[in-house]
Amino acid sequence: MKALILSGGKGTRLRPLTYTGAKQLVPVANKPILWYGIEAIVRAGITDIGIIISPETGEEIQKKTGDGSRFGAKITYIHQDSPDGLAHAVKIAQPFLTDSPFVMYLGDNLIAEDLDLYLQDFKEKQLDALILLRKVSNPTAFGVAKINEKGEVLELIEKPKNPPSNLALVGIYFFSSAIHEVINHLKPSARGELEITDAIQSLIENKKPVSAQELKNWWLDTGKKDDLLEANRIILDTNLTADYKYEITDNSQIIGRVKIGKNTTIINSTIRGPVIIGDNCHLENCFIGPYSSIADNVHLSEIDLEHSVILKSAEVKGIEQRIVDSVIGQRAKIHFVPKRPKALSFMIGDDSQIELT
Ligand code: G1P
Repeated sequence: MKALILSGGKGTRLRPLTYTGAKQLVPVANKPILWYGIEAIVRAGITDIGIIISPETGEEIQKKTGDGSRFGAKITYIHQDSPDGLAHAVKIAQPFLTDSPFVMYLGDNLIAEDLDLYLQDFKEKQLDALILLRKVSNPTAFGVAKINEKGEVLELIEKPKNPPSNLALVGIYFFSSAIHEVINHLKPSARGELEITDAIQSLIENKKPVSAQELKNWWLDTGKKDDLLEANRIILDTNLTADYKYEITDNSQIIGRVKIGKNTTIINSTIRGPVIIGDNCHLENCFIGPYSSIADNVHLSEIDLEHSVILKSAEVKGIEQRIVDSVIGQRAKIHFVPKRPKALSFMIGDDSQIELT
């Protein structure tokens, strides 16, 4: 069994963060989203992993993620020159996958459950494809499955205008090598891509064994800001254990599950978990409320923050109002001094969003 992780794409829905970095490396609880997928795959006993990368962000992903040894895996990077679809990614990965069965994992997807049970089901039933489904409120944004009362998959439609159900295709699929044959005969869709949904549909039409399992627990496709904040909230809620040294906190109160990295100083502040703070940060006169993730080298002073993600080396100072539901990019600076400014002065990148409410 091998794994193929798709980590290309332009991440347009997470701009401006993705102008300077890959969407799969945006951190959730201070760890790149992509790494959760790699860890889940390794936990399922699969260590031969191919990662599809794009010309725009491939180098950064490769540099940060490495050869796989940190995960106990072997990673092979596969270059996709243009975003021609999920099935196209499988096609160019054929020399890596050979005739091995594999799990395909979209690098910006996160699920609560481990993969073992699904993998076992896929193997026991000798399936050519096992897909995972999850009920969603906005099925038009996904691939959607039509299933009968026995749970058999009748049809899959990519981003349907009139969805036949509210069961979306989760970005995690199990395939036998039979998928290569149908992909070799696939024609590009209306949006010009080789769709994996169409490839699975061909398997169904050719009466190949295809099955579906419905996820009961959460699934997040972290391509947008709100989903990213929600993933951050859930991971902090379920995975974080308190870890910090009292010596680093000067006249401060630390309440609940709070993890603080090395060389971070906290002065005259209150931190109410779950909160994660990285290495080499400086926090002074702050209130940091639940569900906040603060990456390495961040400087915060005179602020009140909650349910937000702050990326590496950002600086936020002197904001009177509470900052909530925010994502602040790497090296971004927000300084509001004095407390009631007569004028505001900005240098803000394309696609940034600032709400002064
Ligand atoms: C892709 C698939 C879609 C699936 C989704 C899950 O869509 O084409 O069928 O439901 O991933 O994340 P995309 O995110 O490329 O729009």
